[in-house]
Amino acid sequence: MTPARPGSSRRTILGALAALPVTACARESRGQVPPRAPDRPLKAFAAFPVGCAVTAERLANPADAALIARHFSQLTPEWQMKMEYVLQGDGAFRFDGPDAIAAFARDHGLRLFGHTLVWYAQSPPAFERIDGQGRPFADAYRNYILAVAGRYRGQAVGWDVVNEAVAEDGDGLRDCLWSRNLGRTDYMRRAFDNAREADPDAVLLINDYNLESLPKKRATFMRLVEDLLKAGAPVGGIGTQSHMAADLRPGAVCEAIGDLASLGLPIHVSELDISLNRAGGVFRPRADLQAAQNRLAQELAEAFAGLPPRQRFAFTLWGLKDDQSWLRSLKENPSPPWDEPLAFDADGDRRPMFDALAMGFGGRAG
Ligand code: G3I
Repeated sequence: MTPARPGSSRRTILGALAALPVTACARESRGQVPPRAPDRPLKAFAAFPVGCAVTAERLANPADAALIARHFSQLTPEWQMKMEYVLQGDGAFRFDGPDAIAAFARDHGLRLFGHTLVWYAQSPPAFERIDGQGRPFADAYRNYILAVAGRYRGQAVGWDVVNEAVAEDGDGLRDCLWSRNLGRTDYMRRAFDNAREADPDAVLLINDYNLESLPKKRATFMRLVEDLLKAGAPVGGIGTQSHMAADLRPGAVCEAIGDLASLGLPIHVSELDISLNRAGGVFRPRADLQAAQNRLAQELAEAFAGLPPRQRFAFTLWGLKDDQSWLRSLKENPSPPWDEPLAFDADGDRRPMFDALAMGFGGRAG
């Protein structure tokens, strides 16, 4: 590990301490069908929280609820803590869904992770109506964050305060309702300040996707985090969504985690799924795609497990069972029924990806 030169930047110093040896990224021993892990909960193989994206309806299903409580230690509301659910057309708030998820987490001793307060993709009518109105817009923005983050104070361990702020191709930051009204990075700084005001203890994260597959986007994301920290925003962690295609280049994920770790912040693998379909599924033998999926899952799990403990915030899968994946319900190019992006199949049985994750976590049943 090369020592950082005196006067090096924060990232250089922390990178010298935290960066994974890239040589570990190139290991090719992964990916064949992993040995079946012992019949233990997935979370038992990890020395850090293992999360699952859920909906109130899935938690109301006894079979799904039992699987979720057995295998996971953290819950992320897949959509019911977002503006699209909480903020009604007349400006009223709706909390029945997230409250049900919070109650399930509390009753089962699971962590609750809030997702997400501010997202370019959601600008509900109640905010669109005050677009351009200056102080009223800023006040409504702060009041929304105070109301939502404040409601789960003392229960949510953390929040995706800002989601997907970096441009799709990594060339700068997105324009959105929030940036137009409050400033390109100022809307983010405000959101972090407002969330901190609402909850003094929650870990406040910024979350984005394709950080593994697009080094340019990852670099822009990292610069944004450093800029927010320099501006005094209480950024306490970073989320890398990890929605991936099974054929991602071996080593890319490990290099990405090593890069992101150089910021020295806790990392949340926040939304893992590994699509076979997005890896040219129809043109490749399924056995090859599944081996590639297992390899990639193990590489990510190993890279995350290899982080310093203080940087291992949580490792979250974006759903319980394959047939519940968001990929299946996309309006454009939905995944076909044979796409198996998660660790459990439609019957709730473990898939080889479960074993690959367990092995990557450390394979020690806790
Ligand atoms: O369940 C209701 C149904 O009762 C109602 O009739 C219907 C009307 O449109 O809506 C249904 O809810 C949908 C919900 O998913 C449950 O399926 C919402 O419309 C739909 O917007 C929501 O989509 C979610 C999407 O984010 C937008 O919030 C997906 O489930 C969720 O997987 C996806 O997750 C995002 C992350 O937040 C950020 N990263 C990318 C990821 C995938 O897009």
